[in-house]
Amino acid sequence: MATYRRNRILRQSASIRSMVAETRLSPSDFIVPLFIIEGENTRDEIASMPGYHRLSLDRTIDEVRDLWTMGLRSVLLFIKCKDELKDNKGTEALNPDGLMQRSIRAIKEAVPGMLVMTDVALDPYSSFGHDGIVVKGEIVNDPTIKVLAEMSVSHAQAGADMVAPSDMMDGRVHAIRNALEQQGFTKTGIMSYSAKYASCFYGPFRDALDSAPGFGDKKTYQMDFANRLEAIREVQTDVEEGADIVMVKPALSYLDIIREVKNAVSVPVSAYNISGEYAMIKAAAKMGWIDEDKAILETLTSIKRAGADLIATYFAKDAVRLIT
Ligand code: PBG
Repeated sequence: MATYRRNRILRQSASIRSMVAETRLSPSDFIVPLFIIEGENTRDEIASMPGYHRLSLDRTIDEVRDLWTMGLRSVLLFIKCKDELKDNKGTEALNPDGLMQRSIRAIKEAVPGMLVMTDVALDPYSSFGHDGIVVKGEIVNDPTIKVLAEMSVSHAQAGADMVAPSDMMDGRVHAIRNALEQQGFTKTGIMSYSAKYASCFYGPFRDALDSAPGFGDKKTYQMDFANRLEAIREVQTDVEEGADIVMVKPALSYLDIIREVKNAVSVPVSAYNISGEYAMIKAAAKMGWIDEDKAILETLTSIKRAGADLIATYFAKDAVRLIT
């Protein structure tokens, strides 16, 4: 009888709520994005990401040691390339002594257990600020994936555990896997940004790396936010091509997509709680309109509840502090 069904029984105390909680965050859920810059002993706050910094490599190493002590086990590296090194083909991306390659080596040497993942796309290295090579105003697919494959091999040579292509070109996972195989990197993983939407919420990240597109937008390669089935096609393609982990990005306006993807594939699913999502919480908290700590936990729990096995987030350290 409906009368005897009392759903509030399981909510009446903190102990009982914790006993029946369906979703629990743990430090191993999080991937920590790091922004690395040239120089020494430098720590620049990113204007649109208060509390988050670009770090020189020496400071990055200190940070990685801290993260390890806190129980965090994976980092996702982004570098800020000097303007004079940028060109249309992203030549600097292949430099064996480039900032990315030096950073991978230094982090693996300092904290060998830390999983090092690297962003693979041309935008930080591109004079046009696009993720691929530009020919007559068009972002050309097949020449781009050749460079992305070489870039991935270069990261693997430096010691990256996983490469993370974030460019949304067709066939890039296949090209990368093939190149890694050819060069004998049979243990390097691929975490593919499979369902990456053309989002206004990437704004603060582009400030952080000075990587905003110089013309147009990214809508011919990143996905239209009106679409759901297209996300399933994208993740299925990436799994067939050899992706070890697939990602949905951004996270918060796309919780439905995270769930659909989780139901559609059997590889781990990650979600990227991106820069604009971070900035919104920071801004509202600064105004005194929301409680920052509570917003962080509710947000991250909702992403995991939606189906994310892993979450890349600028709140990783805050979250660990709040849950342990
Ligand atoms: C670049 C890349 C972007 C992000 C990760 N890799 C931005 C973009 O596609 O323009 C966004 C991350 C964030 O906003 O936190 N390929």
